Amino acid sequence: MSKKHAGGQQKEANVAVVIMAAGKGTRLKSRKPKVLHEVGGRTLLSHVIAAASGVVDAKQIFTIVGHEAERVQNAVAEFGTRFVEQPEQRGTGHAIQTALKSITDYENVLVLSGDVPLIRTETIEQLWRFHQKEDAAMTILTAAPENPNGYGRVVRRRAGSAEVESIVEDEALTSAQRSIKEINSGIYAFKTSALEAHLGDLKANNARGELYLTDMAGVLRAAGERVVAVQAEDAAEVLGANTLAELAALDARMRATTANRLMEAGVTIFRPDTCVIDAGVEVEADAVIEPFVQLLGRTKIGAETRVRSFSVIENCTVGERVIIRQSCVLADSSVGDGADIGPFARLRPGSEIGEDVHIGNFVEVKKSKLHAGVKAGHLAYLGDSEIGAGTNIGAGVITCNYDGVHKHATRIGKGVFVGSDSTLVAPIAIDDGAYIGAGSCITKDVPAGALAVGRGRQVTKEGWAEARRARRKAQEQG
Ligand code: UD1
Ligand code: MG
Repeated sequence: MSKKHAGGQQKEANVAVVIMAAGKGTRLKSRKPKVLHEVGGRTLLSHVIAAASGVVDAKQIFTIVGHEAERVQNAVAEFGTRFVEQPEQRGTGHAIQTALKSITDYENVLVLSGDVPLIRTETIEQLWRFHQKEDAAMTILTAAPENPNGYGRVVRRRAGSAEVESIVEDEALTSAQRSIKEINSGIYAFKTSALEAHLGDLKANNARGELYLTDMAGVLRAAGERVVAVQAEDAAEVLGANTLAELAALDARMRATTANRLMEAGVTIFRPDTCVIDAGVEVEADAVIEPFVQLLGRTKIGAETRVRSFSVIENCTVGERVIIRQSCVLADSSVGDGADIGPFARLRPGSEIGEDVHIGNFVEVKKSKLHAGVKAGHLAYLGDSEIGAGTNIGAGVITCNYDGVHKHATRIGKGVFVGSDSTLVAPIAIDDGAYIGAGSCITKDVPAGALAVGRGRQVTKEGWAEARRARRKAQEQG
């Protein structure tokens, strides 16, 4: 029996997925658990879970956690998968021993590695189909990368045969076996019954003194079980991440894939190698992304929008025909169609920028709603405010939203003119069509259509400067 999922594909019901993610990642030399390191802007583990979620329902996915278990669980809680704890990490074979009692209801199990993040749903399905077709006890997903060093190698029974004799870890290779180019991806399918019968046969007689899941190939063969291997077409998909250099290579590869996906969808990206675009970013056709732009998180960019160099946009929804000029920093905000932002503008979280709004250089906006056509061209701070359609905010205007203890709101109506260098002391309301004289400190509400000026009157003393110069000259001579 299989279930339908949103994409219309069938999801598999009689197979569980186990993701091995309990290891520390000693070779990274990092405090952070390996599977929480990121490529393409998402953790290694979340990539693997996302790929597995295309094959089975989340509740059929069991993630093995151990090192910093709670931190790892919290980081991927959104997926709704189940967890198995492996408090002591005694190897990949031991990890599966720990998980075995959770998966006995399933006839088969797909085992994935939490540190092989580029794996795609299609390739897991390819492995799964091959496993069923071959009616094997164990099916190994393999690959033939340019450089097989560091990986376990797959020893086929005969050249060209689907059947496997054993997997030999890199550290145990004989010099003859070193010429084998086919590597073990760390991704497998097993019959659960074969694991139940033989997982206990693993021995820790190896370089690391661990129980290696890879030894199951030889163990099952010796027991007369069928062990086969299927090779992934693209070796890049199964590359592991054991060192920071390997992580950087995977990150570059994943971002290149994302940039290619966007370019195929009609997005112009100048010098895509210089841009940092996270895997989940969406950009519509005819948008233009200039060199050295970062598009991060769940950012969406609309059609015909141009993002100029050195801008960093994170978790934002940007409309169509927008221009984000050079060196803008936008986070957790939205920008309406036709807006003109920057250069050197900053939108902090919770900003809603309406259609055709202009935010100019050195303007900072925080948690504010700017309705259509608002203009704030230069050097302003707009925080905790709502600004009505068509209002003009002069250069240097500040919403004084903080009294040292609490934050307060500023409400400005439609068609208001706020003169340059005014400070608006919140909480305050300025109604539709009002005028604020330049340099004002506004502390009381301003009614619709009024002029408010709050500054010291100008005093002009005719001839004062000339008289002063004359006095000084007389002193010097005397
Ligand atoms: C493993 C394979 C190797 C293969 C490579 C592919 C073994 C012995 N070797 O080596 O043949 O070519 O992957 O990338 O399996 N883990 C646990 N619990 C443990 C130990 C590990 O959950 O007790 C997890 C790790 O967190 C990691 C995964 O299992 O996500 C693989 O472990 P790792 O130490 O990276 O194995 P490799 O040396 O890469
Ligand atoms: Mg590894």
